[in-house]
Amino acid sequence: MGNILITGGAGFIGSHVVRRFVRRYPNCHIINFDKLTYAGNLANLRDVEGMDNYTFVRGDVCDYDMVREVLCRYHVDGIIHLAAESHVDRSIYDPFTFAQTNVMGTLTMLQAAKDYWQGNWNGKLFYHVSTDEVYGSLAVDGSRFTEISRYEPHSPYSASKASSDHFVRAFHDTYGMPVVVTNCSNNYGPYQFPEKLIPLFINNIRHGRPLPVYGSGENVRDWLYVEDHARAVDIVFHEGRSGETYNIGGANEWRNIDLVRLLVRITDRLLGNAPGTSDRLITHVTDRKGHDMRYAIDASKLTGELGWQPEYSFEQGLEATVRWYLDNDEWLDGVTSGDYMNYYARMYGDR
Ligand code: NAD
Ligand code: TYD
Repeated sequence: MGNILITGGAGFIGSHVVRRFVRRYPNCHIINFDKLTYAGNLANLRDVEGMDNYTFVRGDVCDYDMVREVLCRYHVDGIIHLAAESHVDRSIYDPFTFAQTNVMGTLTMLQAAKDYWQGNWNGKLFYHVSTDEVYGSLAVDGSRFTEISRYEPHSPYSASKASSDHFVRAFHDTYGMPVVVTNCSNNYGPYQFPEKLIPLFINNIRHGRPLPVYGSGENVRDWLYVEDHARAVDIVFHEGRSGETYNIGGANEWRNIDLVRLLVRITDRLLGNAPGTSDRLITHVTDRKGHDMRYAIDASKLTGELGWQPEYSFEQGLEATVRWYLDNDEWLDGVTSGDYMNYYARMYGDR
């Protein structure tokens, strides 16, 4: 595929996917289509922005005319759709924005691609990046989500992602559009917006601020280093079977409270603090409404069919992550101060 449109490429995972594709596929033109909401930050892609095979376009996935025009202008054959509202806590207070971006935005992308490709599916692919949260919540009993687990979303975020997954499959089943869907577990790593657990807590430790653990902290998440996710996206994009779903996960389950204790230990060590210095910051706060108890992914289909496996151990990945946030305090300060929002105007003028 020569021309690949990646939506949400200025966000956390999207920026890793864009960087990987721009660097690995110099003969492909990578078009990053992103609205630059609060979660989009072009500074995440500073190192690739001057490359010949990379173009940034500011736009909204809900804007049918613009999406269609961009598909046409760049002769797009492949779409990797990551643009979304992604934070569960925000979805609890503002579900409409999640329905708009995640459901209507995905439907708009599908319809624009269908109208542009006009049934000539040869060499085309719509790849939808989704989450394990569509499957709902597991008990603490060793069970794991597979590709045939029932959809049972609980939060407005996961309900909106579930709906978008259904639309993608509907376009495959109804019109024959070549699609793949992946459902991935919690990601962590560089460039994650510091409202999510790991970067928020690293930043708070840095400033000696409280670490708000929701409820008892016994909820379990299955953590995957973001580079491992980006590599899985690459493999599925190139080798995945059309119409299929692949689960992606690190087989790396942690109770929140244990993860927070480990994070505190690593961060204190890297800051040169005495062991135990930041333990006092751990603060139990009111639980998230409808807080899913446990997520865990069975990725054996992806491993068996396409040979993917995580390469980073959690110890490696987490230490690299803490080190990255501490070494890149300028990035972190730019995001927390809001200055990152001016990056686009500085780079591209105020268009
Ligand atoms: P993010 O919030 O960091 O980034 C989202 C990006 O989408 C931002 O750059 C934002 O500007 C852009 N965007 C939002 N609304 C848009 C719109 N209307 N038009 C165009 N661009 C828009 O999200 P993330 O954590 O990188 O997640 C990316 C995708 O991966 C999402 O679809 C998410 O559901 C999925 N996912 C995330 C995780 C995770 O742990 N973060 C796990 C599994 C799946
Ligand atoms: P988060 O990073 O928001 O991801 P998700 O909700 O998509 O799993 O949260 C990860 C876990 O950490 C989740 O169980 C909620 C919990 N959490 C806290 O305890 N405190 C916090 O401040 C945040 C942001 C999350």
